[in-house]
Amino acid sequence: MKKVVLAYSGGLDTSCAIKWLQQKGYEVIAFIADVGQGEIFAEVKERAIKTGASKVHVLDLKQEFVNNYVFSALKASAIYENKYLLATALSRPLIAKHQVEVAHKEKATAVAHGCTGKGNDQVRFETTVKILDPTLEQIAPLRIWEFKTREEEIDYAQKHKIPVNVTKKSPYSIDINLYGRSIECGILENPWIEPPEEIYQMTVSPQKAPDKPTYIELEFEKGIPKKIDGKVFEAVELIQKLNEIGGKNGVGRVDMIENRLVGIKSRENYENPAGTILHTAHQELEALVLDRETLHYKSPLSQKYAELIYYGLWETPLRYQLDEYVNKTQAMVTGTMRLKLYKGNCVVVGRKSKFSRYKEELATYGKKDVFDQKLAEGFIKLWGMPY
Ligand code: ARG
Repeated sequence: MKKVVLAYSGGLDTSCAIKWLQQKGYEVIAFIADVGQGEIFAEVKERAIKTGASKVHVLDLKQEFVNNYVFSALKASAIYENKYLLATALSRPLIAKHQVEVAHKEKATAVAHGCTGKGNDQVRFETTVKILDPTLEQIAPLRIWEFKTREEEIDYAQKHKIPVNVTKKSPYSIDINLYGRSIECGILENPWIEPPEEIYQMTVSPQKAPDKPTYIELEFEKGIPKKIDGKVFEAVELIQKLNEIGGKNGVGRVDMIENRLVGIKSRENYENPAGTILHTAHQELEALVLDRETLHYKSPLSQKYAELIYYGLWETPLRYQLDEYVNKTQAMVTGTMRLKLYKGNCVVVGRKSKFSRYKEELATYGKKDVFDQKLAEGFIKLWGMPY
């Protein structure tokens, strides 16, 4: 029997996929990636077995996710279309990489995922798998199976006694990991409708956030956040802690129309408390320590880096090359940022770094001024001369 490794979430789609792949003649091995979605993995594992998986692999990928994916995107200031911090997009190449490894371990000849044919995630999974092992057969059950509606899928699940928890079914399509939440579908498909409060889980409404601001100090070393209020945090815990602090203050909600890879525009909502705090602080630290030309040169590269993540091109030469460049730029991105979080806002209100390029004696209009204003006359003459 041919073996397939299915990226399994425990939801209706991938549960039906187990049965469906079996009926197509495959032995199904379920692969569950823990990227901080907060599931009870023992339950998900049991569901996979009950549904017919011959074996289940559960891998804790949280640390790798933060250290190698989230922090790379942070250093690069990669934000898609100026708003999306890429939490979902970043998790895909990581999951795909481990899926390929599980396939090799199990001597499977195929891999499968539970993405639809309209989204970005199918592209990210399959492109990554294709790059890492082009010999693997790739199956996308949702693109080819016979069910037209969710109801038909539920019927199929009931007929085959697939233990899915349909009662907790929400009208939304939600993707969660440690770094953020993506919410779409349902009423959100009408771009005129304000997102209802019920879609949010990581953040309180800014209106209900405390009336007093929260101040935090965030310390970076070479572009990587290391300490909160002077206390060292391990990467995963740092993200969790910032999610908690940001979430309480209603920080990190995004409502946007985004351009999908497959050509359509879609309405997306995100929650990214930690990511919002980190990007805000990191960008402001770069403003303090990077020279003007580097700072300006890096900006379009950030956009390119974000596109590569969004487009599923993580494992490609340009992404590796940009990483090398970005890491070079981070050599002096070390310092402490003081942030004020208040009712959905997150702003830097203080900054310091031993590599600061800000020189008060040059900037000041006070007594300590050492800037020789007479030099400006010659500078301006030469500056304008070519024109
Ligand atoms: N639009 C985001 C992306 O392409 C999120 C996709 C997953 N969202 C979801 N609600 N299932 O990365």
